[in-house]
Amino acid sequence: MTEITRDVLIIGAGAAGTTAANDLRRAGLSVAVLEARDRVGGRLWTDVIDGAMLEIGGQWVSPDQDALKDTIEELGLETYSRYRDGDSVYVGPDGQTHRFTGEMFPVSAETEKVIAEITSLLDAMVAEIDPDQPWAHPRAQEWDTITWDAWLRQQTDDDEAVRNLAFATGSAMLTKPTHAFSLLQSLLMAASAGSYSNLVDADFILDKRVVGGLQQVPVLLAERLGDDVFLNQPVRTLEWSDPSTGSGTQFVIATTDEMTVKARYAILAFAPVLYNRISFVPALPRRQHQMHQHISMGFVIKVHAVYERPFWRESGLSATAFSPYELVHEAYDNTNHGDDRGTLVGFVSDQNADDVFTLTAEERKERILESLSHYYGPEAKNPVVYYESDWGTEEWTRGAYAASFDMGGLHRYGADLRTPVGPIHFACSDLAGAGYQHVDGAIRMGHLAASNIVASSRDAG
Ligand code: FDA
Repeated sequence: MTEITRDVLIIGAGAAGTTAANDLRRAGLSVAVLEARDRVGGRLWTDVIDGAMLEIGGQWVSPDQDALKDTIEELGLETYSRYRDGDSVYVGPDGQTHRFTGEMFPVSAETEKVIAEITSLLDAMVAEIDPDQPWAHPRAQEWDTITWDAWLRQQTDDDEAVRNLAFATGSAMLTKPTHAFSLLQSLLMAASAGSYSNLVDADFILDKRVVGGLQQVPVLLAERLGDDVFLNQPVRTLEWSDPSTGSGTQFVIATTDEMTVKARYAILAFAPVLYNRISFVPALPRRQHQMHQHISMGFVIKVHAVYERPFWRESGLSATAFSPYELVHEAYDNTNHGDDRGTLVGFVSDQNADDVFTLTAEERKERILESLSHYYGPEAKNPVVYYESDWGTEEWTRGAYAASFDMGGLHRYGADLRTPVGPIHFACSDLAGAGYQHVDGAIRMGHLAASNIVASSRDAG
């Protein structure tokens, strides 16, 4: 058993953990980062599958994500724009494929009017929400106790409008059924991107990618930490002592199967759904026990299909495709920078994802490619490389993209989500306001936890 001592131990080498560790180092504190997996990056993961470089986890960067953009620039990484020239595609309730340009789906004039009116209303509501404290809004309780779906259906009985409005924060973002989370949770998701309109604007939210993959962000941050990053070290136990409660000196001791790390502070830099994988000694307080049970991961399959050439471009399609009626509810051109081959990426979310995982791999592939063919024609059925990202089976993530509260949980517990417990601090994208559920949010939370520890350490002399 190796035993080491540091000022701060960080559990998790994702974007949040590696950001915090670098900040702490810069402030003169020593760190150890303990990572359960055999790689750095967590939900950021670039791999080569059958000769194709694929971003299995997070990849896109949007213009408002300043924390991420600053890190990308500071690390000297290059970005490129998602291919978006040409028409988008929409499959309507009649199963027909329609081409369109701009942000409004090609729906009837009445449905378009309803979508535009409710979008304006949502933008006004979102403008009143502080993403860092949505629970502080005077109507937080009311908005947190009605489901997103029920609220939309109170606004209109136009089913196509409801489905199109619902899926922006439902299938596309929180990746849970729209009856499983509240209006307030939906407003937070939109507020974290600046507005509801930003969130539904694919050109905004899915703007750029990093040449070589976004995983380079945590990988390069970890490289700067050198030997202070320890892979294959799932933390099993965290002992802690909080002198403010009269229990002697402040310390934390993390134990893995091979190491013991003693420090003054710990950062849990991973999603709250995994906190209960650690035995805390003493146990975390009542509030945390309760709160963490009201948070769960969404679930989405990210499907990659690589073709000899980006054939859709030849018929003037951008490959941007949406339909709340399709198994693959959204899809895009995901061709890598400088690649001659063409790549499509599509998403199968929440209950659809559950359902297709009851099929054999072959049947699932056939169903998913069939859905892609509704957008792009029969050629979509014959990729040279096909891959499904399945984060549901990843022990150290357990879903995608991120975690959110169940009904009523956000206004009830949200204010305590980031509150440290004695020497234990919390940081990950799932706790963020701006950049919530995104890498930008992970980086913001990493900076915040580090600055809180630096301040606390200074106060302690
Ligand atoms: P993250 O989960 O990445 O890191 C936590 C780390 O802690 C993991 O490495 C884990 O192994 C480790 N860990 C957990 N328990 C441990 C224990 N007990 N001991 C030791 N280590 C432990 N975002 C975006 O901005 N743009 C995008 O396009 C997308 N798209 C997207 C697609 C898919 C398929 C996914 C899964 C996710 C995205 N995201 C995204 C979300 C984004 O990837 C995500 O929010 C951040 O990468 C999360 O970073 P964190 O550091 O907060 O957690």
